[in-house]
Amino acid sequence: MISSLDPVGCKAFEVALAIDLFQELDKAPGTIVELAQRCRVSTRGLRPLLFLLASVGCVREQGDTFHPSPELNRFLSERWPDQKSQAPQAGDWENLEKAVRTGRCVRPPIEGAQDGGEFFSGVVETLFGLHFSLAKSLAHALPSPPLKVLDLGAGSAVWSLGLAVQRDDVEVVAVDHQRVLESVTRKFVAKNQMEERYVLRPGDYHEVELEREHYDVIYLGHVIHSEGWQASTSLLKRCKEALAPQGTVVIAEWVGSTPRADDYHANLFDLNMLMFTEHGLLFDASEMEELASRAGFDRLRWIKGAGKYPVLFASTDS
Ligand SMILES: C[S@@+](CC[C@H](N)C(=O)[O-])C[C@H]1O[C@@H](n2cnc3c(N)ncnc32)[C@H](O)[C@@H]1O
Repeated sequence: MISSLDPVGCKAFEVALAIDLFQELDKAPGTIVELAQRCRVSTRGLRPLLFLLASVGCVREQGDTFHPSPELNRFLSERWPDQKSQAPQAGDWENLEKAVRTGRCVRPPIEGAQDGGEFFSGVVETLFGLHFSLAKSLAHALPSPPLKVLDLGAGSAVWSLGLAVQRDDVEVVAVDHQRVLESVTRKFVAKNQMEERYVLRPGDYHEVELEREHYDVIYLGHVIHSEGWQASTSLLKRCKEALAPQGTVVIAEWVGSTPRADDYHANLFDLNMLMFTEHGLLFDASEMEELASRAGFDRLRWIKGAGKYPVLFASTDS
């Protein structure tokens, strides 16, 4: 059943028409790579578009293959004429077609050091409320001796604070852009009266100096989705080098569902990663495991806490 489309869904549908996706699917089903070739668009761009369209029922996802929806023709003739005016025709979303065709973001990417944290200074405060309960609920799965903790891309420091407020023996180094540390992290640390236990270390988390074999816990909270495969792998390798023996990297993320069609909001987020990051994407659970394995972690555990998505704990047996 094709659901009623929200404005971004309408825009996605409009782009699907513009790149002849439905015509190609009518000729034959295909995988993301095959359909990208046939529609002459980028694989990176088509991937989140297909997942979103699958979520609203405009295409059918079967394993790796996408099929046309049996209801498509009826939707096109009866409902699309009324819905299509809702597609945003201004702002960044106007450029969705270009992003799908090229696989490139439509404005300066939000990740990386280019904007010095300007974008994130505005959003990370809201994330605290969303994730603090989950962050606190993970404490039971972490070891009990005194803990040295690193919070990379700390933002409001929600993940490390979730542990620190429950444990007196936790000391934290929080890394983020100077602007975010000064305008957001410092405020949340102070609000929780944790100033004595936090060191704020400004810098790019790909480059900032990290102690070797030092940290018992490293948080990567909602960081890898804007980094993509390559940068996330190298970030995880940095984490591995900075971990003390028996240490754990805690990777908290949106996690793509299986099948991907099942989680519309996650797929909307994925489309945002296409629009606003250079290499970002929403990983599913097996892709997150693959990332961690590529970085050399061989002990992977999914911990279910007080949140929608489970959290990946990565460590090494050696
Ligand atoms: C989506 S926010 C997540 C913040 C926090 N961990 C949370 O889960 O609420 C990503 C954070 O990573 C920071 N960040 C992004 N790129 C960075 C980089 N290259 N070096 C340091 N911090 C970075 C941003 O400033 C932002 O605070």
